[in-house]
Amino acid sequence: MKLVKLIANLGYGSRKDVAQMFRAGRITDADGEVLYADDVVPHDTIRVDDEPLDPPVGLVVMLNKPLGVTCSRKDPGRVVYDLLPPRFSVRSPALSSVGRLDRDTTGLLLFTDDGALLHRIISPKAQVAKVYEATLAEDLRGDEGQLFASGTMMLESEKEPLAPAVLEVLGPRHACLTVTEGRYHQVRRMFAAAGNHVETLRRLSVGGLTLGELPLGEWRVLAADEVALIFSPGATA
Ligand code: URA
Repeated sequence: MKLVKLIANLGYGSRKDVAQMFRAGRITDADGEVLYADDVVPHDTIRVDDEPLDPPVGLVVMLNKPLGVTCSRKDPGRVVYDLLPPRFSVRSPALSSVGRLDRDTTGLLLFTDDGALLHRIISPKAQVAKVYEATLAEDLRGDEGQLFASGTMMLESEKEPLAPAVLEVLGPRHACLTVTEGRYHQVRRMFAAAGNHVETLRRLSVGGLTLGELPLGEWRVLAADEVALIFSPGATA
Protein backbone atom coordinates (compact mmCIF):
# COMPACT_ATOMS: atom_id res chain seq x y z
CA MET A 1 0.00 0.00 0.00
CA LYS A 2 1.22 3.51 -0.82
CA LEU A 3 2.53 5.43 2.20
CA VAL A 4 -0.01 8.26 1.97
CA LYS A 5 -2.94 5.80 2.03
CA LEU A 6 -1.34 3.69 4.78
CA ILE A 7 -0.75 6.68 7.07
CA ALA A 8 -4.16 8.23 6.33
CA ASN A 9 -5.84 4.87 7.14
CA LEU A 10 -4.08 4.92 10.51
CA GLY A 11 -6.03 8.08 11.39
CA TYR A 12 -3.28 10.69 11.03
CA GLY A 13 -5.43 12.78 8.67
CA SER A 14 -6.98 12.78 5.23
CA ARG A 15 -4.80 11.76 2.28
CA LYS A 16 -4.46 15.48 1.54
CA ASP A 17 -3.31 16.15 5.15
CA VAL A 18 -0.80 13.30 4.96
CA ALA A 19 0.56 14.48 1.60
CA GLN A 20 1.11 17.87 3.26
CA MET A 21 2.90 16.14 6.19
CA PHE A 22 5.30 14.55 3.66
CA ARG A 23 5.93 17.94 2.04
CA ALA A 24 6.61 19.46 5.49
CA GLY A 25 9.25 16.77 6.18
CA ARG A 26 7.34 15.45 9.21
CA ILE A 27 7.55 11.83 8.02
CA THR A 28 11.01 10.32 8.38
CA ASP A 29 12.80 7.02 8.81
CA ALA A 30 14.33 5.84 12.09
CA ASP A 31 17.51 7.85 11.37
CA GLY A 32 15.56 11.08 10.85
CA GLU A 33 15.94 11.01 7.03
CA VAL A 34 12.91 12.62 5.38
CA LEU A 35 10.71 10.10 3.54
CA TYR A 36 8.85 10.73 0.28
CA ALA A 37 5.34 9.57 -0.51
CA ASP A 38 6.51 6.94 -3.01
CA ASP A 39 9.28 5.47 -0.82
CA VAL A 40 8.96 1.80 0.08
CA VAL A 41 10.11 1.18 3.66
CA PRO A 42 9.24 -1.26 6.46
CA HIS A 43 6.34 -0.07 8.64
CA ASP A 44 8.33 -0.15 11.88
CA THR A 45 10.99 2.23 10.52
CA ILE A 46 8.51 5.05 9.84
CA ARG A 47 8.39 8.02 12.21
CA VAL A 48 5.78 10.80 12.34
CA ASP A 49 7.08 13.89 14.11
CA ASP A 50 9.87 11.63 15.48
CA GLU A 51 7.33 9.20 17.00
CA PRO A 52 6.98 5.61 15.71
CA LEU A 53 4.06 5.20 13.31
CA ASP A 54 1.10 3.42 15.00
CA PRO A 55 0.97 -0.35 14.38
CA PRO A 56 -0.81 -1.61 11.23
CA VAL A 57 -4.18 -3.40 11.26
CA GLY A 58 -4.17 -5.94 14.07
CA LEU A 59 -3.66 -3.29 16.77
CA VAL A 60 -4.59 -4.50 20.26
CA VAL A 61 -4.66 -2.02 23.14
CA MET A 62 -5.17 -2.62 26.85
CA LEU A 63 -6.69 0.13 29.05
CA ASN A 64 -6.93 0.20 32.83
CA LYS A 65 -10.43 1.65 32.81
CA PRO A 66 -11.17 4.13 35.58
CA LEU A 67 -14.55 4.77 37.24
CA GLY A 68 -17.14 7.00 35.59
CA VAL A 69 -16.32 6.46 31.91
CA THR A 70 -18.70 4.69 29.56
CA CYS A 71 -17.87 2.05 26.93
CA SER A 72 -19.69 3.92 24.19
CA ARG A 73 -18.88 6.30 21.36
CA LYS A 74 -21.96 8.47 21.82
CA ASP A 75 -22.55 8.93 25.56
CA PRO A 76 -22.85 12.61 26.55
CA GLY A 77 -20.46 12.02 29.49
CA ARG A 78 -16.83 10.82 29.40
CA VAL A 79 -16.26 7.75 27.25
CA VAL A 80 -13.38 5.28 27.13
CA TYR A 81 -12.36 6.55 23.68
CA ASP A 82 -11.55 9.94 25.28
CA LEU A 83 -8.67 8.17 27.07
CA LEU A 84 -7.07 7.01 23.80
CA PRO A 85 -5.48 9.07 21.01
CA PRO A 86 -8.31 10.49 18.82
CA ARG A 87 -6.69 9.00 15.71
CA PHE A 88 -7.40 5.46 17.06
CA SER A 89 -11.13 6.12 16.54
CA VAL A 90 -10.70 7.30 12.96
CA ARG A 91 -8.39 4.50 11.87
CA SER A 92 -9.78 2.39 9.09
CA PRO A 93 -10.82 -0.11 10.34
CA ALA A 94 -11.61 1.72 13.62
CA LEU A 95 -10.56 0.53 17.04
CA SER A 96 -13.47 -0.91 19.09
CA SER A 97 -13.73 -2.14 22.66
CA VAL A 98 -13.73 -5.91 23.09
CA GLY A 99 -17.03 -6.25 24.95
CA ARG A 100 -17.86 -3.64 27.58
CA LEU A 101 -17.35 -2.79 31.21
CA ASP A 102 -20.03 -0.85 33.10
CA ARG A 103 -19.47 2.83 33.83
CA ASP A 104 -18.77 1.92 37.46
CA THR A 105 -16.50 -1.04 36.75
CA THR A 106 -12.74 -0.50 36.60
CA GLY A 107 -9.90 -2.59 35.22
CA LEU A 108 -8.76 -4.43 32.14
CA LEU A 109 -10.51 -3.39 28.94
CA LEU A 110 -9.23 -4.45 25.51
CA PHE A 111 -9.62 -2.68 22.18
CA THR A 112 -8.80 -3.92 18.71
CA ASP A 113 -9.30 -3.03 15.04
CA ASP A 114 -9.26 -6.75 14.16
CA GLY A 115 -12.91 -7.86 13.94
CA ALA A 116 -12.08 -11.57 13.77
CA LEU A 117 -9.92 -11.34 16.89
CA LEU A 118 -12.63 -9.38 18.72
CA HIS A 119 -15.23 -12.08 17.98
CA ARG A 120 -12.81 -14.83 18.97
CA ILE A 121 -12.25 -13.21 22.39
CA ILE A 122 -15.93 -12.55 23.18
CA SER A 123 -17.35 -15.77 21.75
CA PRO A 124 -18.64 -17.96 24.62
CA LYS A 125 -17.28 -20.92 22.61
CA ALA A 126 -13.72 -19.62 23.14
CA GLN A 127 -14.21 -19.98 26.94
CA VAL A 128 -11.88 -17.05 27.68
CA ALA A 129 -11.93 -16.62 31.46
CA LYS A 130 -12.52 -13.12 32.84
CA VAL A 131 -11.64 -12.59 36.51
CA TYR A 132 -13.49 -9.89 38.47
CA GLU A 133 -12.74 -8.72 41.99
CA ALA A 134 -15.86 -7.57 43.83
CA THR A 135 -16.54 -5.92 47.15
CA LEU A 136 -20.04 -6.55 48.44
CA ALA A 137 -22.62 -4.71 50.53
CA GLU A 138 -23.53 -7.81 52.57
CA ASP A 139 -21.62 -10.75 54.01
CA LEU A 140 -21.50 -13.77 51.70
CA ARG A 141 -24.02 -16.45 52.75
CA GLY A 142 -21.76 -19.39 51.96
CA ASP A 143 -23.81 -21.02 49.18
CA GLU A 144 -22.84 -18.64 46.36
CA GLY A 145 -19.88 -20.73 45.14
CA GLN A 146 -22.11 -23.75 44.59
CA LEU A 147 -24.82 -21.68 42.91
CA PHE A 148 -22.40 -19.92 40.54
CA ALA A 149 -20.64 -23.21 39.66
CA SER A 150 -23.89 -25.11 39.04
CA GLY A 151 -24.29 -24.45 35.33
CA THR A 152 -28.04 -24.15 35.96
CA MET A 153 -28.18 -20.63 37.42
CA MET A 154 -30.73 -18.48 35.57
CA LEU A 155 -30.64 -14.70 35.47
CA GLU A 156 -33.92 -12.81 35.30
CA SER A 157 -35.36 -12.45 31.78
CA GLU A 158 -32.75 -14.79 30.27
CA LYS A 159 -33.53 -18.05 28.49
CA GLU A 160 -30.23 -19.89 28.88
CA PRO A 161 -28.59 -20.82 32.18
CA LEU A 162 -25.20 -19.35 32.98
CA ALA A 163 -22.11 -21.38 32.24
CA PRO A 164 -20.37 -22.54 35.43
CA ALA A 165 -18.38 -19.77 37.13
CA VAL A 166 -15.77 -20.00 39.89
CA LEU A 167 -16.04 -18.00 43.13
CA GLU A 168 -12.97 -17.45 45.29
CA VAL A 169 -13.87 -15.97 48.67
CA LEU A 170 -11.28 -13.47 49.90
CA GLY A 171 -13.19 -12.15 52.93
CA PRO A 172 -16.75 -11.85 54.27
CA ARG A 173 -17.58 -9.16 51.67
CA HIS A 174 -14.75 -9.64 49.21
CA ALA A 175 -14.46 -12.20 46.39
CA CYS A 176 -13.08 -12.96 42.96
CA LEU A 177 -15.43 -14.38 40.35
CA THR A 178 -14.21 -16.06 37.15
CA VAL A 179 -16.71 -16.18 34.28
CA THR A 180 -16.40 -17.28 30.66
CA GLU A 181 -19.36 -15.34 29.28
CA GLY A 182 -20.02 -11.63 28.90
CA ARG A 183 -23.70 -11.15 29.58
CA TYR A 184 -25.17 -7.74 30.38
CA HIS A 185 -24.13 -6.64 33.92
CA GLN A 186 -23.37 -10.32 34.52
CA VAL A 187 -21.35 -10.17 37.72
CA ARG A 188 -23.61 -7.60 39.39
CA ARG A 189 -26.70 -9.61 38.43
CA MET A 190 -25.18 -12.88 39.69
CA PHE A 191 -24.51 -11.41 43.14
CA ALA A 192 -27.92 -9.69 43.13
CA ALA A 193 -29.56 -13.05 42.40
CA ALA A 194 -27.73 -14.38 45.47
CA GLY A 195 -29.24 -11.60 47.63
CA ASN A 196 -26.20 -9.33 47.64
CA HIS A 197 -25.12 -6.08 46.02
CA VAL A 198 -21.79 -5.34 44.32
CA GLU A 199 -20.24 -2.15 45.68
CA THR A 200 -17.03 -2.10 43.67
CA LEU A 201 -16.07 -4.20 40.67
CA ARG A 202 -12.70 -4.47 38.96
CA ARG A 203 -11.66 -6.75 36.09
CA LEU A 204 -8.27 -8.23 36.86
CA SER A 205 -7.63 -10.42 33.83
CA VAL A 206 -8.83 -11.66 30.45
CA GLY A 207 -7.53 -15.17 29.76
CA GLY A 208 -3.91 -15.23 30.88
CA LEU A 209 -3.50 -11.48 30.36
CA THR A 210 -3.37 -9.26 33.45
CA LEU A 211 -3.06 -5.50 33.92
CA GLY A 212 0.42 -5.76 35.41
CA GLU A 213 1.70 -2.36 36.50
CA LEU A 214 -0.53 -0.35 34.12
CA PRO A 215 -1.81 2.66 36.13
CA LEU A 216 -5.54 3.48 36.28
CA GLY A 217 -6.63 5.52 33.25
CA GLU A 218 -3.57 4.54 31.17
CA TRP A 219 -3.33 2.39 28.05
CA ARG A 220 -0.65 0.60 26.09
CA VAL A 221 -0.32 -1.37 22.87
CA LEU A 222 0.01 -5.15 23.36
CA ALA A 223 2.77 -7.19 21.73
CA ALA A 224 1.83 -10.37 19.82
CA ASP A 225 2.94 -12.64 22.68
CA GLU A 226 0.66 -10.72 25.09
CA VAL A 227 -2.29 -11.11 22.71
CA ALA A 228 -1.57 -14.85 22.58
CA LEU A 229 -1.80 -14.93 26.40
CA ILE A 230 -5.53 -14.16 26.12
CA PHE A 231 -6.01 -17.66 24.69
CA SER A 232 -3.27 -19.36 26.67
CA PRO A 233 -4.03 -22.80 28.15
CA GLY A 234 -5.01 -22.77 31.79
CA ALA A 235 -6.61 -19.35 31.35
CA THR A 236 -10.14 -20.74 31.37
CA ALA A 237 -12.45 -21.08 34.37
N1 URA B 1 -20.20 -7.79 34.94
C1 URA B 1 -20.78 -6.66 35.39
O1 URA B 1 -21.75 -6.70 36.13
N2 URA B 1 -20.25 -5.50 35.02
C2 URA B 1 -19.17 -5.38 34.22
O2 URA B 1 -18.73 -4.27 33.93
C3 URA B 1 -18.58 -6.56 33.77
C4 URA B 1 -19.11 -7.77 34.14
